[in-house]
Amino acid sequence: MTAKTGAERGGLRVWDLPVRLFHWTLLAGLAALYATQALGKMDLHARIGEAVLALVLFRLLWGVIGSQTARFTDFVGGGRTVLAYLRQGRSPSAGHNPLGGWMIVALLGGLLLQAGLGLFSNDDILFEGPLAHLVSDGTSSLLTHWHVLLFKILAGLAALHVAAVLAHWLGKGENLILPMLTGHKPWPADRPRPALAFAPPLRALAMLALAAAAVLLLIRL
Ligand code: HEM
Ligand code: HEM
Repeated sequence: MTAKTGAERGGLRVWDLPVRLFHWTLLAGLAALYATQALGKMDLHARIGEAVLALVLFRLLWGVIGSQTARFTDFVGGGRTVLAYLRQGRSPSAGHNPLGGWMIVALLGGLLLQAGLGLFSNDDILFEGPLAHLVSDGTSSLLTHWHVLLFKILAGLAALHVAAVLAHWLGKGENLILPMLTGHKPWPADRPRPALAFAPPLRALAMLALAAAAVLLLIRL
């Protein structure tokens, strides 16, 4: 790589604060979910799982009415867009590339399902999820089985996601982790700088409150 120009050093703001907070809070939440079930602290596991469900619902809302790079329309494309990215290595978005975009859809969809299944699960001893009473014991056991199984699939997807991030770094010299922390990506001086639109943080707070309220209503069914 050539030496950094001033424009590259200045970088381009690509990720807003809500997206960055979402990502690292999600990671901390998943670590806590793993630890709580390993320690048998199922009440805490459930509370954190419900918080993660609210976080994922928030991200889905933010994917529709959030900042430009957070929107699904910005990074989810059809087969032709993905193929063009694979051939030319240039992403139409300054944010997620079209291949990573599908991984994000898979991770968010998987997390939504995982948390949803958790609500109907039981641990065969003392604990049952807040919606387990809505289904028969047999169905709750089946959904628990899927909850356990889906976690393994999710862990595999997450490992692939981290491997892809590391491959970008080691293979292309492109560090994607730093921008997820700072919000800014290095931007080559010879590349046109897109004028990205950022949504107001208050809108993110309102969406988070809406997502949390939806989960609180759901678990009282
Ligand atoms: C140490 C572990 C992890 C690292 C270093 C990491 C790093 C990253 C980076 C760099 C991005 C931005 C990719 C890009 O520039 O397009 C990203 C996005 C994302 N990651 Fe991770 N990640 C980690 C773990 C996870 C886990 C465990 C999950 C969920 C199972 C996850 C879910 C996501 C999602 C949903 C996005 C999209 C962010 C958004 O648009 O809101 N990540 N991650
Ligand atoms: C994305 C959110 C969640 C993740 C990643 C997650 C992850 C896990 C994991 C890793 C296990 C242990 C699997 C194993 O035995 O190998 C587990 C078990 C369990 N989870 Fe979750 N969970 C989530 C949300 C929830 C929620 C919201 C609830 C309930 C409100 C819940 C209830 C349970 C129960 C009852 C078990 C025990 C199953 C058993 O003993 O066989 N989970 N979860």
